[in-house]
Amino acid sequence: MKIIMLGAPGAGKGTQAKRIAEKYGIPHISTGDIFRANIKNGTELGKKAKTYMDQGALVPDELVVDLVVDRVAQEDAKNGYVLDGFPRTIPQAEALDAALAKINEKVDYAINVEVPDENIIHRMSGRRACVSCGGTYHIQYNPTKQENICDACGGKLILRDDDQPETVKNRLQVYHEQTQPLIDYYSKQGILKEVDGTVDMNDVFHAIVEILG
Ligand code: AP5
Repeated sequence: MKIIMLGAPGAGKGTQAKRIAEKYGIPHISTGDIFRANIKNGTELGKKAKTYMDQGALVPDELVVDLVVDRVAQEDAKNGYVLDGFPRTIPQAEALDAALAKINEKVDYAINVEVPDENIIHRMSGRRACVSCGGTYHIQYNPTKQENICDACGGKLILRDDDQPETVKNRLQVYHEQTQPLIDYYSKQGILKEVDGTVDMNDVFHAIVEILG
């Protein structure tokens, strides 16, 4: 099962992708997490990506596409995967389709998690991310047992640099200009599924499981 998560920044793609990966036994592949790991490790890719991410801009397609195409070809992805944060532009989607077509495969579902812009800024300011394992929480909707300590690994929680309100506004604008056209792209392929992302995160997950079976 090959699944793409679509939706605005902060719509809950990562939250749901982790649960899908766990339930269906497929890897969760998040380009944002891959870039953040590279930034943390001080790699060349991380240094390049950081300059774009800090402004809320997209990392150029040429830095993203090969990385994902290589990742989905790995052994653990042979039964499928859930892609979170990729594709984000039409050229990225076309590159993925072309790479899959070469091996006679295709994406099965593109799930769009719908959340209006008004809800996003509030969500992002309350999000906390673990510096060690990347786990994601929310101070109001998904709090940790101990304040600012990751439930999963005991790491320290932070507000991501790109979750500052000004950067979130840029990310939303970039989303509407460059990523939202993918909704139409996958609708035309007949694989688009929409879920309401404004309801409780358990209910969002149930709606997704109804779709995936
Ligand atoms: P990335 O990390 O992918 O960020 P994003 O797409 O902006 O998405 P987020 O991770 O911010 O949000 P999410 O939808 O996963 O929401 P979450 O589940 O955390 O990318 C970061 C940057 O990397 C980009 O800006 C870009 O620069 C670069 N990049 C990455 N991929 C790229 C690509 N392919 N091409 C080019 N550049 C790329 O939830 C948000 C919060 O809400 C959490 O606190 C959560 O607990 C809470 N929450 C979730 N669901 C609910 C709910 N139903 N009700 C209430 N709260 C909820």
